[in-house]
Amino acid sequence: MKKRILTGLKPTGELTLGNYIGAISQMVELSNDENNEVYLFVADLHALTEYQDPSTLRERIKKFIAMYIACGMDPEKVSIYIQSDNEYIPMISWILECNTYYGEASRMIQFKEKSKGKENFTVGLLTYPILMAADILYCDADLVPVGIDQKQHVELARDIAERFNNKYGKTFKLPEPLISKEGIKIKDLKDPSKKMSKSEVNPNGVISLFDSPEIVSKKIMGATTDSENLVYYDEENKPGISNLLNIASVISKRSIDDIANEYKASGYGNFKKYVASLTSNMINDIQGKYNYIINSGKLEEILNKGKENSRKLAYEKMIEMKKKVGLN
Ligand code: TRP
Repeated sequence: MKKRILTGLKPTGELTLGNYIGAISQMVELSNDENNEVYLFVADLHALTEYQDPSTLRERIKKFIAMYIACGMDPEKVSIYIQSDNEYIPMISWILECNTYYGEASRMIQFKEKSKGKENFTVGLLTYPILMAADILYCDADLVPVGIDQKQHVELARDIAERFNNKYGKTFKLPEPLISKEGIKIKDLKDPSKKMSKSEVNPNGVISLFDSPEIVSKKIMGATTDSENLVYYDEENKPGISNLLNIASVISKRSIDDIANEYKASGYGNFKKYVASLTSNMINDIQGKYNYIINSGKLEEILNKGKENSRKLAYEKMIEMKKKVGLN
């Protein structure tokens, strides 16, 4: 049996180098393994939990899909789709909501953080992880690669699945989160105590996959470091340099030690130049592919295929659930 692996990204903010290194490049690797069956989607329904400008959102959904492919996701091997194209998922989500306790949902860290101090937040913010459970459980995903901040949601999906199985008989596979090491590690260039995030306000700390290669170089050259001027890995005392070593290591596929040894005593300037050229070349490459794909007229066909693959599985699961709970 193939392993089914699924993940989604919410289209709020631009895709960043952090998303590439932490999520997308890992998915590309997983999809190149013949033993895996990979699903990758744009979680556009999740984006609606907070207001999005409609035309920006519409544009961004398409950009995410094209960027996934530009980053190396092969639509021949991977089912790439838009969450809202699969209308069975919200139905599955509703049945799961009715098997989730309010207390459980309201204890989610992300919910608490996003609702804290606000008078008006949407109910969608509370049910967000249950929709996420539907995303995961409809296709019996074995593994769900996510950032550490989403781990709790995958665990909730597992709890809901287990509860449903106990009540109604085995229906769902219990998913496992897969936390990428690099994903946790890619930090903001200006404040290496925070993760590099697509919703960050200081644009100099975040590299967008749409930044021009010149801007990418500038941002790397301007990354915050300590003043010791010796290149070695020490997350605690040298978070800025360690972050750049992580970035360089993933892009070049060289080990951190190897890079650190080469640049140890050559000063931060030379080291940063190396990281800047690695990163800007890679982004230049990705953007070339992106422009080709977005203008190729093939996106629709790719999306239709992904949509049909996902709808077929979701339909089957929905029918099974309806039968089990007593709906016609
Ligand atoms: N919540 C994820 C994010 O913040 C997106 C997401 C939605 C997701 N559904 C999912 C991730 C299912 C993994 C599996 O980007």
